[in-house]
Amino acid sequence: MQQIVYLNDQFLPLEKARISPLDRGFLFGDGVYEVIPSYSGKFVGFELHIERLKRNLAALEIVLDWTLEDWFEVTNKLLSEHGSSNLSVYIHVSRGADIKRSHSYNQGLTPTIFAYAFEIMPPKVADKDKVTGLKVVTQEDIRWRQCHIKSTALLGNVMHFQHAHRNDVAETVLYNAQGEVTEASTSNIFVVKGQKITTPPLDNQLLPGITRHLVLDILSTKTDYRIEEATLSLTDLYTADEVWLTSASKEIVPVTMIDNKRVANGEVGDTWLTAMSLYTQNKFNY
Ligand code: PDD
Repeated sequence: MQQIVYLNDQFLPLEKARISPLDRGFLFGDGVYEVIPSYSGKFVGFELHIERLKRNLAALEIVLDWTLEDWFEVTNKLLSEHGSSNLSVYIHVSRGADIKRSHSYNQGLTPTIFAYAFEIMPPKVADKDKVTGLKVVTQEDIRWRQCHIKSTALLGNVMHFQHAHRNDVAETVLYNAQGEVTEASTSNIFVVKGQKITTPPLDNQLLPGITRHLVLDILSTKTDYRIEEATLSLTDLYTADEVWLTSASKEIVPVTMIDNKRVANGEVGDTWLTAMSLYTQNKFNY
């Protein structure tokens, strides 16, 4: 099947999509992106993703006057062009192509806008027998100090993710120079201990994940667990009852092995089951 993508005001076959080698996205990773999941044509957290995109564009001083409706029109058309039922839309906005390579930028460039839909796994189900707990490793974060910006400059993330791949596990969980756990190379992290569910507080060391936001909102309004945004140490991770990772594509996924050590008894936990059921029931409200 021919894949139709969106590039700079045009819907066209992927093979025909071309950008300039002087595009600052290509030269400098000078751009931002979003990945928005949809199931049977319905997006999860569409508005929240677009709001984050707008905040990130403003942080990089990339001027783009697209409204929520403009984004909806383009992304929705990509879903219908593709036709499958479980799709994410990738949106990439770079500062655009200049006439020469220069670190400094001027405000006059026309941003390059690329978007395409790709198939994802069907929505996860809240069933311990149908989920596989992930194995992960930990590593000190080597990325830049603006990790709250969803920048297309992902080399640090790529290197961390490849470390996981090399170790035959699913993810690399990151900690800072103080040994505080922040997030993972492509996802946010939650730790369960007794009746308390904790995720690291938002700052420049981690991405404000939309799934993280949904999980916090759902759990704090629909359960009696104590929900906290607080600093977590590596010891908190190793001694947790449960550890989860969250992202738009993973939703909520349990971690059962960290650095070759089992999380609790190495089984998927009951709190994950509760969280995942509530997430499944409520995610389309966002
Ligand atoms: N990754 N932290 C990092 C470093 C991420 O790259 C992501 C998402 C998240 C979770 O954010 P959200 O819940 O909004 O998906 C946290 C995307 C999916 C990616 O790079 O493909």
